Parts: sequence; structure tokens; C-alpha cells
Amino acid sequence: MAVVIAVPAETLAGERRFALTPDVVKRLRQSKAEVRLQTGGAANAHFRDSDYADTKFAGGVSELYSGANIVLKVQPPSLEEAAQLPQGSILISFLSPGRQPELAKVLRDRNITSLAMELVPRITRAQAMDALSSQASVAGYQAALMAAQLCPKFFPMLTTAAGTIRPARALVIGAGVAGLQAIATCRRLGAIVEAYDVRAAAKEQVESLGAKFVSAVSGAEGSGGYARELTAEEKQQQAEKLAQVVATADAVISTAAIPGRPAPKIISADMVKRMKPGAVIVDLAADGGGNCELTQPGKTISEHGVTIHGPLNVPSTMPVHASEMYAKNLLSLLGLMIDKEGTLKPDWNDEVLKGSLYTHNGAIVHEPTRKAVEGA
Ligand code: NAI
Repeated sequence: MAVVIAVPAETLAGERRFALTPDVVKRLRQSKAEVRLQTGGAANAHFRDSDYADTKFAGGVSELYSGANIVLKVQPPSLEEAAQLPQGSILISFLSPGRQPELAKVLRDRNITSLAMELVPRITRAQAMDALSSQASVAGYQAALMAAQLCPKFFPMLTTAAGTIRPARALVIGAGVAGLQAIATCRRLGAIVEAYDVRAAAKEQVESLGAKFVSAVSGAEGSGGYARELTAEEKQQQAEKLAQVVATADAVISTAAIPGRPAPKIISADMVKRMKPGAVIVDLAADGGGNCELTQPGKTISEHGVTIHGPLNVPSTMPVHASEMYAKNLLSLLGLMIDKEGTLKPDWNDEVLKGSLYTHNGAIVHEPTRKAVEGA
């Protein structure tokens, strides 16, 4: 029997992305899957229902979910939404693993197999399914544009009849996926860019984009290619080295993160005090509390003459391409679960599927969440 895939509208305030785009729905139909979408669900991502040719629509979730095998979402479902998911179905979505134990309980108790997009292993084979990377690219690009807009200076060098304008100096802290995209975008806008990361591998990547690498602390690789938390001594060393670079920047874009931990505090209030008047900080780590001590997540404030912007859910601000990339990530992941006849045949021992599991067979699979919910 052909698999039935349902996509509800996103309900989180401010979320504009939608899990499936017309192009990806067409590809799923070619693989004989039946796709059902909630009426008007893609409108905030600028896709009309009429853009989805030959697709079934349902107004409410009871009709949408009737007989559905797979539900696709962007944001984790609320507890109420989770309680409406079809029992025994498969949910694929961002799920904030470790941060929503109550949601894990509901999914477990409804025997829902949930795959968290955050848990998709970051191995070469799964690159096309890596939604953390696709959405971080959007965020990095947008962060550079936000910095350029908030900055009271031109980013590029200009030679005009009114004199020569010197290019702005941008500093990117954290040269992962978002940081590298921010560097590339600042460079395209003509700024002089410096960048810092605690992973040694970042140096070459930063330099390949035409930016200068700032050396402060290096060799802080943790597991899975991510950074580890710094020791107190390393933090001190980092603060001393970074203070000088931060003080000369017109724009600082910070993206530093450590998996499973709050965002590391890298820019102290004292560093902000020593920045140039009119300088701007775009703190892309605001969702995790922020890299700057003074950041107020979701707000734009001014401290010591410095604008500190703490945007939340940045990928949602560019919903067309963010949805397109996310939908393609989902399509690739679904390719591991649906055979040529459109039949649901997941191999839960596949490294990618197994690694992405959050709940399965009436149990919480993600160990940190299981411990938080059920104890040791
Ligand atoms: P992330 O979002 O967890 O962190 C962002 C950046 O912050 C990282 O580059 C991290 O090293 C940096 N950081 C942490 N603490 C810092 C500090 N105190 N100061 C400065 N920077 C700090 O990481 P993201 O962007 O999701 O991925 C990081 C790396 O993971 C990538 O650059 C890549 O090497 C690897 N990766 C591998 C993939 C694959 O093989 N399929 C896919 C995506 C990422």
C-alpha cells in the first residue's frame, strides 16, 4: 500500500517555513507516495495551494491525519499537536532533543516513531539530509545582511567624488556552517573580514573565503567534529586575545555553539564597552542564550553606543529557500524509508535512521532525554 504523508500548517508564532514545497511533493508523487497538505499551510512560505498540482488538501487535522503513516513538520509539535498525531505513525521534524521532555513522553505514549532532524548523523552519506546545515546557511547569510543594515557605515570600499570610503571591518566568531556563510556574504558585500573559531580545521576554511583567521584558543575539538566547552584558563586566554579584535570591528557576527550546552559567553560587557561607537553585534546564538553577555534574545538594544541584535529563528525570515532546502533534506531522508512502489519499508538498523531516532516502539531512544524523563 502506498504510504500516506501528511503535512500540517506550522503553528509556532513567527514560523513561516513549511515542510514540503511543490517541487518536492511532485518528486514524492513520482515515487508513488500519497501527499496530503493542510489547506493554506504553505502560504507564509509564499507557496499557494494551487502551486501544488494534483495534491490532496485537508482543512483540519483529523481529516489530514486520517490513515496517515508519516507526518512532516518544521518546528517541534506543541503538546496539543502531538496528542493529535496518529497513533503509531512516524513524525519527522526538528524536535529540540533534550529540551522538551514532556513532548518526548507524549510521543512515546502514543507509540509514535519520531526522527529529530537535529540528530541526523553528520556523515558524508547523510549530507543531503542535514537540515542543521541547510538552515544554518540561511541564518549565516541573513546575519551578514542584518549586520550590514544595522551598521552606520558602508561595508564596501567606495571611491566617490565625495572622497574615499574605507571598507567596514567585520568579525565573525564561530566559523561553522552559519559562520562560513556569514563570512562569504560579508566578503561579497566588500567588508574586510576576520574570523575566529576554536576548532583548528576552521582556519583553512576561513582563509579559503578570503578572511583573516584570528588565533586565540585552538584545538578545542569535541566529538563529532563539534567544539567542546573551553576550560576556565582557555576562556581567559580567549577573552584577552579577542578583546583587541572586537574593539576594532564595525560589525561582529557571533555564531558559536556547543552541542547540548547553552551558547558560550564570548563577548563580555567590558568588551562591548570598548567597542567603537556605532558598532553592531548580530548575535546569531541568541536562540541558545547568546554569545554576548548583554544580548537580550529577540530584541535589538543599544549599550555603550553599540547596537546588539539578538534575532530568533532566523531561517524563518527567508522562508522560500529555507523551506526548499528543508524539504529536500526531508526528501532525501524519506528515500531511506520508502521503496520504489511507494511502500513504507524503513530499515531501523540503517545508521542514518537509527541515529535520528528520538522515540520508537513506545520508548524514548534519545538517551539524554530518556534519562531526563525516566531517570537512570
Ligand atoms: P555549531 O552550530 O555547533 O557551532 C558553530 C561554531 O561555533 C562551530 O564551528 C564551533 O567550533 C564554534 N565554537 C564553539 N565554541 C566556540 C568559541 N568559544 N569560540 C569560537 N567558536 C566557537 O556547529 P556547526 O556549524 O553545526 O558545525 C560545525 C562543524 O561540524 C562544521 O564546520 C563541520 O566541520 C562539521 N560538520 C560536518 C558535516 C558533515 O560532515 N556532514 C556537516 C555539518 C557540519
